[in-house]
Amino acid sequence: LPGTNLDYFDAEAACNAIEPGSYAKLPYTSRVHAENLVRRCDPATLTDSLKQLIYRKQDLDFPWFPARVVCHDILGQTALVDLAGLRDAIALQGGDPAKVNPVVPTQLIVDHSLAVEHGGFEKDAFEKNRAIEDRRNDDRFHFINWTKKAFKNVDVIPPGNGIMHQINLERMSPVIHAIDGVAFPDTLVGTDSHTPHVDALGVIAIGVGGLEAESVMLGRASWMRLPDIIGVELTGKAQPGIMATDIVLALTEFLRKEKVVSAYLEFFGEGASSLSLGDRATISNMTPEYGATAAMFSIDQQTLDYLTLTGREPAQVKLVETYAKTAGLWSDSLKTAEYERVIRFDLSSVGRTIAGPSNPHARVSTSDLAAKGISGVVENEPGLMPDGAVIIAAITSCTNTSNPRNVIAAGLLARNAKAKGLSRKPWVKSSLAPGSKTVELYLKEANLLGDLESLGFGIVAFACTTCNGMSGALDPVIQKELIERDLYATAVLSGNRNFDGRIHPYAKQAFLASPALVVAYAIAGTIRFDIEKDVLGLDKDGKEIRLKDIWPSDAEIDAVVASSVKPEQFRKVYEPMFALSVDYGEKISPLYDWRAQSTYIRRPPYWEGALAGERTMKGMKALAVLGDNITTDHLSPSNAIMMDSAAGEYLHKMGLPEEDFNSYATHRGDHLTAQRATFANPKLINEMAVVDGKVKQGSLTRIEPEGKVTRMWEAIETYMQRKQPLIIIAGADYGQGSSRDWAAKGVRLAGVEVIVAEGFERIHRTNLVGMGVLPLEFKAGVNRKTLGLDGTESYDVLGERTPRTTLTLVVTRKNGEVLQVPVTCRLDTAEEVSIYEAGGVLQRFAKDFL
Ligand code: F3S
Repeated sequence: LPGTNLDYFDAEAACNAIEPGSYAKLPYTSRVHAENLVRRCDPATLTDSLKQLIYRKQDLDFPWFPARVVCHDILGQTALVDLAGLRDAIALQGGDPAKVNPVVPTQLIVDHSLAVEHGGFEKDAFEKNRAIEDRRNDDRFHFINWTKKAFKNVDVIPPGNGIMHQINLERMSPVIHAIDGVAFPDTLVGTDSHTPHVDALGVIAIGVGGLEAESVMLGRASWMRLPDIIGVELTGKAQPGIMATDIVLALTEFLRKEKVVSAYLEFFGEGASSLSLGDRATISNMTPEYGATAAMFSIDQQTLDYLTLTGREPAQVKLVETYAKTAGLWSDSLKTAEYERVIRFDLSSVGRTIAGPSNPHARVSTSDLAAKGISGVVENEPGLMPDGAVIIAAITSCTNTSNPRNVIAAGLLARNAKAKGLSRKPWVKSSLAPGSKTVELYLKEANLLGDLESLGFGIVAFACTTCNGMSGALDPVIQKELIERDLYATAVLSGNRNFDGRIHPYAKQAFLASPALVVAYAIAGTIRFDIEKDVLGLDKDGKEIRLKDIWPSDAEIDAVVASSVKPEQFRKVYEPMFALSVDYGEKISPLYDWRAQSTYIRRPPYWEGALAGERTMKGMKALAVLGDNITTDHLSPSNAIMMDSAAGEYLHKMGLPEEDFNSYATHRGDHLTAQRATFANPKLINEMAVVDGKVKQGSLTRIEPEGKVTRMWEAIETYMQRKQPLIIIAGADYGQGSSRDWAAKGVRLAGVEVIVAEGFERIHRTNLVGMGVLPLEFKAGVNRKTLGLDGTESYDVLGERTPRTTLTLVVTRKNGEVLQVPVTCRLDTAEEVSIYEAGGVLQRFAKDFL
């Protein structure tokens, strides 16, 4: 490679040898995939795989070998619990458990475990929250510490340091690796749907479920159908005062309408070049919200500037530049790239925006709030909370806190508000949880941390917090008032998801907004407020203050970013963190000493009994009949509603102290707790739960053939005792949301063998296959309604399972009528068929290691 002593694999020559001039037509993503194939693929299959890329053949499986795996402590931990369980299963069968080791470097960042029990208006909130986190998670952190020593190639970033994607963006990704004398592009999978955050750097990073991550960790290729690659030309320039959050929320609405589900997007054009890397990262982060698989930006001067800003070594920055320019990954070389289609989005069309109340793609321009019925008249008695009370205002998430412009804008708005005597309303639980400690350093440098603190936005954590539903308990007085008055209360957060029930049990709905708008809503105190026009307060001269009076100018924001965000801050934070060595070879048992009473970590059951056995797919009963947009939060909720659920009762029985009730998510290393949370979302609408002629919302279903409507877990237990095979019938976009594999594990443990839906979200479908659950898709125009399915039927599946073949769903109605319904088998590749037939990915590993 010119300018270095490194070699590189010439993907351009390999592609052009097959079809002269073909490389120049490849999109960025395909160029990186071509390199990956040339370097890693078996020579016998290389040409075929390259031809797939060149001729866009979408009918073959396509392998790639990610260079790294990144995990958070929920899915990453459950993946490692699975591997620890696999070691036990191997040992029990006389094999060598120490053979089970990740071979691909795996980094686990503990960022999902901290709840905001102490808000940003309390003294020492960070230290207090961390102490609670350590106490509550003792079993989990004990296990995580063991994994670091017991498994090769696993490194752990301990709690209290930041959020995985932000750390990945700011430090972990080298963009171009230089290993063993070879330079090659960084690629990775992550156990979180927002892993594409780092696509902004030109790194192919995609979110996968824990099961697929386990497979990659163990050195298997990740297999996929060649995706559509869509060019998104960004034109124009953002209007003054518009933040990257506004842009990404508008883009999310636009791209959902453009139906980019599962596609790789490549942003280009003048608008893309003008965006800072931080702005690009905010856009790439929300890839799952617009339904894509990846959201790539190619490498350009902005990329190099960001690498320098974040303290990467000059030699590394030079390597990235040289490699990108040599291998056709520099943005200028992409002008000849050809896409499946190109869509255009004008950045100047974006106004100030919030998204909600239940979906990230439900964008509302702030100037339209009143017209949309969100803002409105507030009649309220003095001293009481108003209707629409904002009970949570959280500056949170890697989406926004990795973008210095967004954070600095919030700080400046707080400064301006404070100067005019404005303050947070007392019922608002406000918090600031940056995704890395660098943010604290640059806010201090800019003298803005104190201003944020005085508005109640002191630092409560360096972790996901409210973004993953860990918003913590409310002040009991406020909670009492909410219950007694049955108030419509909301959360406003700078996160990326606001599905019902996710943010807080008492926040009936939630709105996504830029960090600066979050501060403004903490001052307003209610969502029933026209944030553009209504009066936020009066200054000392009695003059009315509106949002425009405290919103910082772009020039002001840019000047503070330029003077306050410095490479030394990133080095100061990251050099000690990454100096921690991995304890390879330490004498430690290869088998984990499971704590019998733990409700967090338990030996998994996937190699025992019925789970290791056959799926009959005969005489299945429906566990649920569902509509569109069922999310992984419906399937396996992550928030803290423990007490009145089957999982809560179980934890009580196991003696978990009430003050240490944690989130569902943190218990996912214990299948006995986690399976009781299956469908435990009070917002679930299961069409089988009919009471007095109406569908009753809640974690409910109907046991058949008795026809008794019960709590979901009671039905599951009943069916488990009966060894009754189950099916789920669903509408479109089944399984959207996060990559949590418990959304598949929970239904498999319940006895679900088949899910037939009008469509599946990508990651969840892969998780279902990984758990040995068969995903089937209704043909166009057919659905539960056209077939008149109400869950009283019994179901069989007939036909040979090959990729995308048509199988027959045999529906036998109560009156004996039989329907033969053709459905598409959504085992998409031969590899998926092989995983499915083995019983799932975990069962197949066991065979491989024996
Ligand atoms: Fe990022 Fe954590 Fe939210 S990884 S998207 S802050 S849950």
